[in-house]
Amino acid sequence: MNEASPGRLTRDGIRIYEPGDFAGMHAAGRLAAQLLDEVAEHIYPGQTTGALDDYIRKRIEEEGATSATIGYKGYQHATCISVNHVVCHGIPGDKKLKDGDILNIDVTVIVDGWYGDTSRMYVAGKLPRKSERLIQVTYDALMMGIEAVKPGNTFGDIGHAIQTYVESQRMSVVRDFCGHGLGRVFHAPPNVLHYGRAGTGPQLEEGMFFTIEPMVNLGRHETKVLSDDWTAVTRDKSFSAQFEHSVGVTSDGVEIFTQSPAGKFHPTYD
Ligand code: MF3
Ligand code: CO
Ligand code: CO
Repeated sequence: MNEASPGRLTRDGIRIYEPGDFAGMHAAGRLAAQLLDEVAEHIYPGQTTGALDDYIRKRIEEEGATSATIGYKGYQHATCISVNHVVCHGIPGDKKLKDGDILNIDVTVIVDGWYGDTSRMYVAGKLPRKSERLIQVTYDALMMGIEAVKPGNTFGDIGHAIQTYVESQRMSVVRDFCGHGLGRVFHAPPNVLHYGRAGTGPQLEEGMFFTIEPMVNLGRHETKVLSDDWTAVTRDKSFSAQFEHSVGVTSDGVEIFTQSPAGKFHPTYD
């Protein structure tokens, strides 16, 4: 078997990994999640997103791991940091966080060739009530999507679970960005949509590795990309939140590779 492309491909081009490959994903996912645990204490009003990125970049080096994003399509940073109405792909920089700002930090590391990709929400200072609700709904939507992961269900079941819940809370699901297969590569088939119809799309099979990473807006779902050709924002400037886990389909359900070692993934960080 080829080291770089283990397992086999389904008709839809989705790679099926071997039982022994879960350990590699677990290690990569765990480090990514640990970095998100660690960065939490560095977030406060007056802090810059660039300093948060520097912290994570240094820690990746110290751990002997590799950033998947530095050099990816010309990107120069170890994280994407998306503040308030930024939906995703926010570029870390000199701008200072203000009290009540909400932010997503998204990190992807490579450990022994395996990719761990995860993101979660934080607040600088005091979390405003409306943002708290947005973050809670987004987190719950991710977990409901993950609950739909088991052999025999379909990718449409994941999207359907997320969309139905989010819309029942009078919020909207972003359509322009999706989750993705990953494993020995960063982005692979399939596109994991966060909306859709139950029973549609490819069937989930044991050994599939992918991310689920719903972006939820308080207002309308439409996004646009800024003139930096990178940063995606809500068109109506409403606030947006996102959580991302990397998961693997097991014989009877799902393994979350990016579980927080400190139990801090949940939005109300005590
Ligand atoms: N980590 C992001 C994802 O969830 C991808 C970021 S690509 C970057 O897929 F180049 F913008 F960092
Ligand atoms: Co991802
Ligand atoms: Co990510």
